[in-house]
Amino acid sequence: MAMGSITFHWHDLSQLNTVANACATLWKAPAVVLLEGELGAGKTTLVQNVLSAWGIAERIKSPTFDLVHWYQMDDMVVLHVDLYRIADQGELLALDLPSPNEDIPYVLLVEWGHWLRQWYPDRFECQILRESDGERTMVVTAVGDEPLRRLSQQEVSDT
Ligand SMILES: Nc1ncnc2c1ncn2[C@@H]1O[C@H](COP(=O)(O)OP(=O)(O)O)[C@@H](O)[C@H]1O
Ligand SMILES: [Mg+2]
Repeated sequence: MAMGSITFHWHDLSQLNTVANACATLWKAPAVVLLEGELGAGKTTLVQNVLSAWGIAERIKSPTFDLVHWYQMDDMVVLHVDLYRIADQGELLALDLPSPNEDIPYVLLVEWGHWLRQWYPDRFECQILRESDGERTMVVTAVGDEPLRRLSQQEVSDT
């Protein structure tokens, strides 16, 4: 499978905006984004910043308890999903997650997203590492032709 990756680094929360803006371009619908990183790594915080880069103004809560939050926009639907509580594939199927290429394109932003690797051949796999209290590194790997094409088109440089 074709792959490529880009690394982002931010020293503190004040720099997250820049990263989130780059991600908001890279992850425009249709896209599947699978996020990994230990509790407190910053998955939810990153998603919040990406959503606000897309102009989603409402308060964005973590979907840890209800698993899926939907944000309907004029030209895309954004799903923020948290699979921390998923125990098996059956529970996963019950969520009935959409394909990203519907009439209205979808973006799936999925915390603990490894569960979905086999369902979405085209995807971005992201690993967030907590380096210190405020410092984070994220490796974003584009898997599949379309994500790779976006990665190569985008003028995002490693921060
Ligand atoms: N540079 C940073 N980037 C992201 N989060 C940070 C950063 N510095 C501190 N934090 C804090 O770390 C916590 C990350 O929590 P959260 O986003 O809920 O993580 P996760 O969803 O991965 O469990 C938040 O309290 C956030 O304010
Ligand atoms: Mg979270």
